[in-house]
Amino acid sequence: MPRFVTVAKTSEIGPGERDVFGVDDLWIAVFNVGGTYYAIEDVCTHDDGPLADGELYGYEIECPRHGARFDIRNGKVTRLPAVVPVQWFEVRVEGDEIQIGLDE
Ligand code: FES
Repeated sequence: MPRFVTVAKTSEIGPGERDVFGVDDLWIAVFNVGGTYYAIEDVCTHDDGPLADGELYGYEIECPRHGARFDIRNGKVTRLPAVVPVQWFEVRVEGDEIQIGLDE
């Protein structure tokens, strides 16, 4: 069971929006796609690019550095040059709080 940490209010990340939060020693990018929230580590596995600065195509975030893409629903690589999945986090909404699930 992960430990859930509140990062924002739902009103702070509207549909189509994203934001990045420092949690513990991680930078976590939270996306709102159609009212559902997704969270991945904001660090490209290819060469540490800031993923949340990239364009989002459907559910694929494109790294602004060399164009790798990751599926924000599960962290999987969908386009080279990255080959390693990005860390993905469970997200839940409790009342009006967006919470990220972190491994203990
Ligand atoms: S750092 Fe992301 S594709 Fe190279």
